[in-house]
Amino acid sequence: MMYIGIDLGTSSVKMILCDSMGKIINSVNREYPISFPKEGYSEQNPEDWYNETIEGLKALTEGYGDKIKGLSIAGQMHGLVMLDENDELLRECILWNDSRSSKECDYLNCEIGVKKLTEWTANIAFPGFTAPKILWVKNNERDIFDRCKKIMLPKDYLVYRLTGEFVTEPSDASGLLLFDVKNKCYSKEMLELCSITEDMLPKVHESYDKIGTVKKELCELFGWGKVIVAPGAGDNAAAAVGMGVTGGNMCSISLGTSGTVFITSDKFTVDEKNALHSFAHADGGYHLMGCILSAASCNKWFLEDILNSKDYSECEKGIADGENNVIFLPYLMGERSPHNDPYARGAFVGMSMDTERGDMIKAVMEGVCYALRDSVEVARGQGIVIDEVRVCGGGAKSSLWCKILANVLRVKVLKTNCQEGPSFGACILASVASGEYESVKAATDNTVKVVSELMYDEEAAKKYDKGYEKFTLLYKSLKDWYRYEK
Ligand code: XUL
Repeated sequence: MMYIGIDLGTSSVKMILCDSMGKIINSVNREYPISFPKEGYSEQNPEDWYNETIEGLKALTEGYGDKIKGLSIAGQMHGLVMLDENDELLRECILWNDSRSSKECDYLNCEIGVKKLTEWTANIAFPGFTAPKILWVKNNERDIFDRCKKIMLPKDYLVYRLTGEFVTEPSDASGLLLFDVKNKCYSKEMLELCSITEDMLPKVHESYDKIGTVKKELCELFGWGKVIVAPGAGDNAAAAVGMGVTGGNMCSISLGTSGTVFITSDKFTVDEKNALHSFAHADGGYHLMGCILSAASCNKWFLEDILNSKDYSECEKGIADGENNVIFLPYLMGERSPHNDPYARGAFVGMSMDTERGDMIKAVMEGVCYALRDSVEVARGQGIVIDEVRVCGGGAKSSLWCKILANVLRVKVLKTNCQEGPSFGACILASVASGEYESVKAATDNTVKVVSELMYDEEAAKKYDKGYEKFTLLYKSLKDWYRYEK
């Protein structure tokens, strides 16, 4: 039997077809545009997601139609999709890296107060989260707000179109800021505050539950039999599942468009300083997460847009990790964890006449690792031991970047058999929903293996401790500058 895992990402939808032992049989990637209509705005058309997914599924499953048993989706988190009474899209989706709702966040965090928000949702407001965006639409596009009958997250929109079921699950719902994470239900207080009602939101199931089947007309189009659907997970939770980061006390890092530090826990926990998000995991447990808004996207921007090269390995050739006088702040789309600063932007400092191209390329990778260390330090400050991390995402393909990550964080970096983290996690959730495995843990025990390990080097780590000090000082020095004229 085979399972389809869909990863609805920011730049493309990636789809894989796996057998029940986790072997990848086929994969397809289909891109779609992203628009930045104003500084800090970031939007996508959900219709593009759907159309590209349908085209991709045709190509993915050709010749395998009768073997497909289940499907599930990992999705970019926090996006606001709004439908009217006829299920028509009311506007483009406002994405996870959009920072237009900073005023609404100030209202939530300062006037309503972080204490109440934390009590109701286990989290505070960040511009990327969904509730502040709902308030932004209410304040700025009143007509759309008044016509809105359904609110959903990106992957839940795809599930709705594929199955007709209006559902979500705790890992993605946690990032709505409308969700009582501890009790896995909507927060009445938050719904009231956003002037919406529970019937406008999808019903919550566990990530690995069977919630229905793919619509008959689509199955006919693809040549499939009955295909069971699980609601899936937010992309980071799905990636963690795909790397076997389930149960308690494990850590994964994703070097994707965003960069995340994902720390699992059997029990519900909250970071008292609210620097890390407190979310539910797709295995039925919980996790803490730090997120930076630009990770592999910094590298992509620097190599492709600035240096005009698509040959990443050529760009990295001859660069050794270690000493670097150049420091880079990776806040091209603002900063989320731990500073929550939508005004922050990128910066290169420390260049001199002998600075070379390679120093700047390396500084970008180092800057991303330092920014991730900010979240790791917050977790360590709470007594959480992080000495090994499993990595995935485009950036993890670079051995130089993995080496820098190990040395900056003083950890062992592990890679697992499937580098397609989120889509592989989605396959695993589909296999549990289809009855192939009795739990997410049982599924990951059978399908995920560690294939490589890289330990940090003490001498390099000492140098990076110094670099990290400079990095933290740099953000502090620029903080007020970022607010100039804001
Ligand atoms: C997590 C977050 C990002 C997106 C990227 O909170 O905003 O990692 O999920 O797709």
